[in-house]
Amino acid sequence: MEKKTCIAMVPCPGQGHLIPLVEFAKTLIHQHNNLHLTLLIPTLGPPTPSIKAILNSLPPNIDFNILPHISIQDLPQNVHPAIHMKLTVTHSLPFLHEALTSLNTRTHLVALIFDVFSSDALHLANQFNILSYVFFTSGALTLSFCLSFPKLDETVSSQFIDSTKTVNVPGSIIPFQVKDLVDLVLYERSSEIYKIYLGLCQKLYFVDGIIVNSFTDMEAEAIRAVQEKTTFVDSPSVYPVGPIIGTGSTSKESQMECIQWLNNQPPKSVLYICFGSGGTITHDNLNEIAFGLELSGQKFLWVLRAPNNSASSSYLMGQMEDHLSYLPSGFLNRTKEQGLVVPSWAPQIEILSHGSTGGFLSHCGWNSTLESVVHSVPMIAWPLFAEQRMNAIVLTDVLKVAVRPKVDDQSSGIVKHEEIARVIKIIMEEEEGLQIRKRIKDLSDAAAVALSEHGSSTRALSILAHKFQNI
Ligand code: UDX
Repeated sequence: MEKKTCIAMVPCPGQGHLIPLVEFAKTLIHQHNNLHLTLLIPTLGPPTPSIKAILNSLPPNIDFNILPHISIQDLPQNVHPAIHMKLTVTHSLPFLHEALTSLNTRTHLVALIFDVFSSDALHLANQFNILSYVFFTSGALTLSFCLSFPKLDETVSSQFIDSTKTVNVPGSIIPFQVKDLVDLVLYERSSEIYKIYLGLCQKLYFVDGIIVNSFTDMEAEAIRAVQEKTTFVDSPSVYPVGPIIGTGSTSKESQMECIQWLNNQPPKSVLYICFGSGGTITHDNLNEIAFGLELSGQKFLWVLRAPNNSASSSYLMGQMEDHLSYLPSGFLNRTKEQGLVVPSWAPQIEILSHGSTGGFLSHCGWNSTLESVVHSVPMIAWPLFAEQRMNAIVLTDVLKVAVRPKVDDQSSGIVKHEEIARVIKIIMEEEEGLQIRKRIKDLSDAAAVALSEHGSSTRALSILAHKFQNI
């Protein structure tokens, strides 16, 4: 019997990385159903209920194998989540090897697609003599920065942040202040985290291709830059296949309290607030948001996490306990007619696609950004870590689909409640907000065209699929 053509995929820990790879797998299999896909999943700690729910919704021609996990206690504490991601993948390599050996005997294994933070898997692809692709979960501009970084590194002596004030990223019409770049480059050049990031960027030049979750109308210049061999000599082909986002249409989610609450609100009246998979804000800013909401009088739906001074403190932990106690005293009582606070996690896609949602205060993670664009929800940009400041700048200054509140004091990062109320009013009520709404609707329409039968993203996906099928 002829063996099935199989592609193995390796996400990295972190829901914001797993979700788009799973959605990419579903899109690929939907359009090219003669392929067989297997997700090989490194995990930090046992899989959370939300990860299990994602995996249990996979169609039958996508398998998954959760590799034996590493425990957070076995990793260095108080380090950047990227170190945990990398160490988790390193720990998983022997299990990955075993899983690939088994797949290689049972199927016609042709390619390994891995998250950029799982690039340690590249040598396994080489060992098995199969194609290697990076699935890049951020946008093309961040990819352009990553491809530039090995060269930029040569200009650095001790700290990147000391070496230069602004950086021209190919594909960006505006230069970036160093402090706004991917946060991993702001560490000492000799630090582990800096070296890890540099290593990941260097590896991009050794894969057969890079799949990026973006589309032409959103990032035309950046996509052109990463595809141009004159800008990045010896770089692999880049396939913009986005926007790939979840559908979020499970009946269980529509039963949830927050969706039922939204059902009873007027159209486009609710500001949704969420800082991604596990982003956290300081206690001071949590209070300011609470008072800003009260001052604005705007309807709101707030996914609340325990505050922490480290913006990414709970990024890899998944579900957390209820932290409503951190809210200002009496807040829940005073706002019970105005809004709803949901601890830790909410069905974001269902919320963004709901007719009552009119704005999104977001940390500008790339998935949240694409989800807001697809559902035409204007944004308030509140970036926290990783590449989110770059995303926020593009959303506010280039695409003009977001407003950004002014930070009152740079050292504490505090944003005053009056300022929060001001941007809420802009996005939800004022003429400027209407213009933003119109621009994001245009972008959403362009996204639909990119994903249509002859659209640019569908074509990029078909080119890729043919490569896999013709081996
Ligand atoms: C980080 C990076 O900043 C991001 O750009 C990168 O691509 C992935 O890692 P993260 O905090 O995971 O971001 O945010 P984001 O990329 O927005 O992804 C979060 C995902 O979780 C989204 O798909 C969102 O819909 C989902 N989510 C989050 C929920 O469904 N409910 C929640 O309550 C919170």
